[in-house]
Amino acid sequence: MRSVFPFPSVIENNMKRLSLILLILVTASLIFGWFWWKTPTANVLAVPTNERLEYDAVDEPILPLPLTITLNEEKVLLGEKLFEDPQLSRTNLVSCASCHSLSTGGTDRLVHSLGVANRAGSINAPTVFNSGLNSKQFWDGRAESLEAQIDGPTHAFNEMDSSWPEILNKLNLSPEYREAFALLYPEGIRIDTIKDAIATFERSLSTPNSRFDRFLRGDVHALSQEERDGYRLFKDYGCSSCHQGANVGGNMFEKFGVMGNYFGDRGKPTKADLGRFNVTGDEADRHVFKVPGLRNVTLTPPYFHDGSAVTLEDAVAIMAKYQLGRRLSSVELLKITSFLKTLSGEYKGRAL
Ligand code: HEC
Ligand code: HEC
Repeated sequence: MRSVFPFPSVIENNMKRLSLILLILVTASLIFGWFWWKTPTANVLAVPTNERLEYDAVDEPILPLPLTITLNEEKVLLGEKLFEDPQLSRTNLVSCASCHSLSTGGTDRLVHSLGVANRAGSINAPTVFNSGLNSKQFWDGRAESLEAQIDGPTHAFNEMDSSWPEILNKLNLSPEYREAFALLYPEGIRIDTIKDAIATFERSLSTPNSRFDRFLRGDVHALSQEERDGYRLFKDYGCSSCHQGANVGGNMFEKFGVMGNYFGDRGKPTKADLGRFNVTGDEADRHVFKVPGLRNVTLTPPYFHDGSAVTLEDAVAIMAKYQLGRRLSSVELLKITSFLKTLSGEYKGRAL
């Protein structure tokens, strides 16, 4: 039927055409948009997802420990013998291992160690595991190397209370030691060869292949979601600005109480609380300590130089409060400590 007025029919046809074009355009842009959204962006400007960052070890603040280290095995064995030998103490009753037992994470798990005649020390014993990775030794960094560190405990009144002439004398009486040293060191039993053997043994105390290291090496399933969340919080909240590198610490000095007066709140100040100030006399070093490594941390309570934190949860909450000015929720605390537990590694191929 022909319309009396031509215009409405033209408009009607145009409208049909127009809406068809519109429909095609909308559908096309929807399809294009969907593909654009779904296609992974591979160009360099792409922001990596959290998922990818988590196991792209190159970008991580923590490095996995090498799976093998090459050391003179005979020196390691001699060093181990010396480490376990109470003859290094005046009373022949205290060895390095008395305070750094390898079966309890390389520590004695006491607030303050007990030396000869049960004399108590004034600071918590750190672990000897992975200590070779620390840039300096002791909480206040007063020893430059593992070798230099050995002068400390052998002579300390409340540790081994001995002296080098006394130790050299005792070891020289042993045909076994004379033979073992002669085989490895032409110069025989000397202060520096004793130190070299013990330090070589200590360098063998590496704890690779923790679940966290396996995760860093690309095994995403080595960690649970909760543990991965914990690692993310550890990074996002800034724990890793101090606890980082292969030993998850051990390579810088920081004040204990950046965001609050830890010592004022704790009370009963001691000389050990002065930290690196005792070494440098520099006011800026008051209450400054070597950031401890956190590998195997779940095995080495109590925590801090003063041994004041009984559990790992306590230690983490105190860290958040005094180093970062944060109060962690119980869920965050759980996640971070779950992550820290994945840092326990292996020694001689067995879980610590
Ligand atoms: C009586 C207990 C005791 C004995 C024995 C002892 N240590 Fe220690 N060790 C400690 C304490 C406590 C500290 C921390 C002292 C400090 O920082 O001022 C420490 C610190 C260390 C450190 C530094 C670790 C770090 O992260 O800074 C190493 C390494 C170490 N000892 C190795 C040894 C060796 C080797 C022997 C034997 C020659 C030995 N210790 C004997 C208690 C002991
Ligand atoms: C500003 C640097 C800094 C930050 C940030 C920091 N720490 Fe620490 N951490 C230290 C220092 C320094 C110590 C040693 C304190 C002492 O005992 O005197 C320490 C000690 C610890 C200890 C005890 C280890 C031991 O063997 O006694 C744990 C556990 C720990 N930190 C976990 C954390 C966690 C988890 C976070 C984040 C919530 C964190 N830290 C943030 C510097 C820092």
